[in-house]
Amino acid sequence: MGHSEWHLEALQMSLRDICPGLKVECLPEIDSTNTELARRLRRGQADTVLLVAERQSAGRGRLGRSWITPAGSALTFSMGLPLQLANWSGLSLAVGLAVVEALDPDGRLGLGLKWPNDLWHWAPPQAPTKLGGILIETLPLTEGAGGRYVIVGVGINRLTPDIDTGAIAARGLDHWGPAPEPGQLLARLAAPLVQMLLDFERLGLRPWLARYAKRDVLRAQAVQTSQGIRGLGAGVDAQGALLIDTLQGQVRVDSSEVSVRPLTMPAP
Ligand code: BTN
Repeated sequence: MGHSEWHLEALQMSLRDICPGLKVECLPEIDSTNTELARRLRRGQADTVLLVAERQSAGRGRLGRSWITPAGSALTFSMGLPLQLANWSGLSLAVGLAVVEALDPDGRLGLGLKWPNDLWHWAPPQAPTKLGGILIETLPLTEGAGGRYVIVGVGINRLTPDIDTGAIAARGLDHWGPAPEPGQLLARLAAPLVQMLLDFERLGLRPWLARYAKRDVLRAQAVQTSQGIRGLGAGVDAQGALLIDTLQGQVRVDSSEVSVRPLTMPAP
């Protein structure tokens, strides 16, 4: 796929209105867009940049998992920017919300968020399917700069894979009609995502809690965590921690190391 189909210059111009200095860049191939931005930071480049890859050879997911997608089947990009945040909790929820609302603004596709920020389609009793995921990593900026460099990696399946290897079936946007071109998809997601990051820096999670609740696929569902907690999803608190109603009372799950699944699926 040639770079012209991404219309990167037009995208960069449109994003400059909300985020002056933002660069948009596309690489034909890289190990992982998150890894590349971390490497650049270590070389002293703390740019505000949106880096797209047409192919990732070593894409990464949360909890040390790999995220592998054939070239062209998924949109894979990372947004890197320095942020000064008093409270980091909930950032991943806000990012997931920006992505899911951009993909499915009126909820017609039934896309939701599986805490903390997986993109799911789940209409019980059918099995859930995963449309994409988000990997947020933060690194210290050089001394004295304050804040941290945030890398927000987003992967969205355009095409449903023929063979599924993961615990949860992957689904592409092609399930609902012709898959949008990667460049169109990026153009749809980029502005809301950048805007959400800038707003979150000022306001934190609170303004988005009600909207998150509408997309929370775990709410009122039987779930289990990788720590063995079982109960009913009871939403999230103001810090973005997952709440689970168990027989012993309500439990708050806020560790990014924890994985949570519906009870109907194998334990995480
Ligand atoms: C997950 O589902 O656990 C998160 C998947 C995140 C994948 C994206 S693709 C772009 C960016 N680069 C990576 O290596 N990972 C993220």
